Amino acid sequence: MKIKTFCDRQTKAIRRMVGEGKAISALSGGVDSSACTVLAHRALGSKLKVVFIDDGLMREGEPAEVKGVFAGLGIKVDIVRAGEEFFAALAGKFDPEEKRKAFRQAFYSVFGREVLRSGARFLVQGTIKADIIETKGGVKTQHNILEQIGIDPEKGFGFKVVEPLKELFKPEVRTVAKALGLPESIHARMPFPGPGLMTRVLGEVTPERVAVVRKATKIVEDGLKKLKPFQALAVLLSDKGTGIEGGARKFGDIVIIRSVESRDAMTAKPTPIPWDVLMRMSRRMVKEIPSVVRVAYELTPKPPATIEYI
Ligand code: XMP
Repeated sequence: MKIKTFCDRQTKAIRRMVGEGKAISALSGGVDSSACTVLAHRALGSKLKVVFIDDGLMREGEPAEVKGVFAGLGIKVDIVRAGEEFFAALAGKFDPEEKRKAFRQAFYSVFGREVLRSGARFLVQGTIKADIIETKGGVKTQHNILEQIGIDPEKGFGFKVVEPLKELFKPEVRTVAKALGLPESIHARMPFPGPGLMTRVLGEVTPERVAVVRKATKIVEDGLKKLKPFQALAVLLSDKGTGIEGGARKFGDIVIIRSVESRDAMTAKPTPIPWDVLMRMSRRMVKEIPSVVRVAYELTPKPPATIEYI
């Protein structure tokens, strides 16, 4: 199907579904939620409320950057600052699935409040085909599948879910996003998981540990900008490693650089990164993040590893 036909069809379908009601979209700035937000805005105009939940797990400068991009398209985005609530929910959790559950509950509690406040009865969501396949396959629970938390999309909070992208894979979503006028910083953006930097912090997720991963992520993204990998990230291990500082033993953080090539994130291969690029990233990490004493590059494909560490 032609992209324009797809966009026109989805716009009409959203308009028909929502009718005279109101809808709300939780924008994350990723290509999926951005594309479905623009589609819904086309369909509904001011009947769509767009919120960006700042969960404290975003990359550096992300909330303001996303708000700016959407302002450029004439779409108002309300930033909801909820970091404290997410960190409180994640405190004392070490198990990956428990962390995912805590994140989901915090997300729906914050988002649920926004929904009630907005009076919306429709939730616009950027679910794509891979999310559905991976969740059905039991690989891991994606936070954006309502059924996973026992909410019946037809009843639940009393709202219905609008998922205009659920038949598409990522490359098709990018084409749609481009056609909808989203800039390259969004349509060519690396995938970034709903639970944000949480999926890259092994062990307890605290503001301090997220800050380490945030800085390391920025260094990886800067370092690999020219190589344009499918997805690149930094991970903080839960164990510490021995290092040396000023002649003394120092027990510090271990950061892993992960960069992969993939078509649709279902399978992936490590990016062949030139040695000097790896060394530059490693040097920056230990220099700019005082707690880091070791940096490693991960060589595992998917499968058997997943892309994220959680
Ligand atoms: P994995 O780690 O399963 O990831 O190989 C495949 C792709 O999905 C992203 N990912 C998520 N995206 N919510 C999302 O929206 C999630 O809970 C989630 N977990 C993983 C991951 O970044 C990769 O692109």
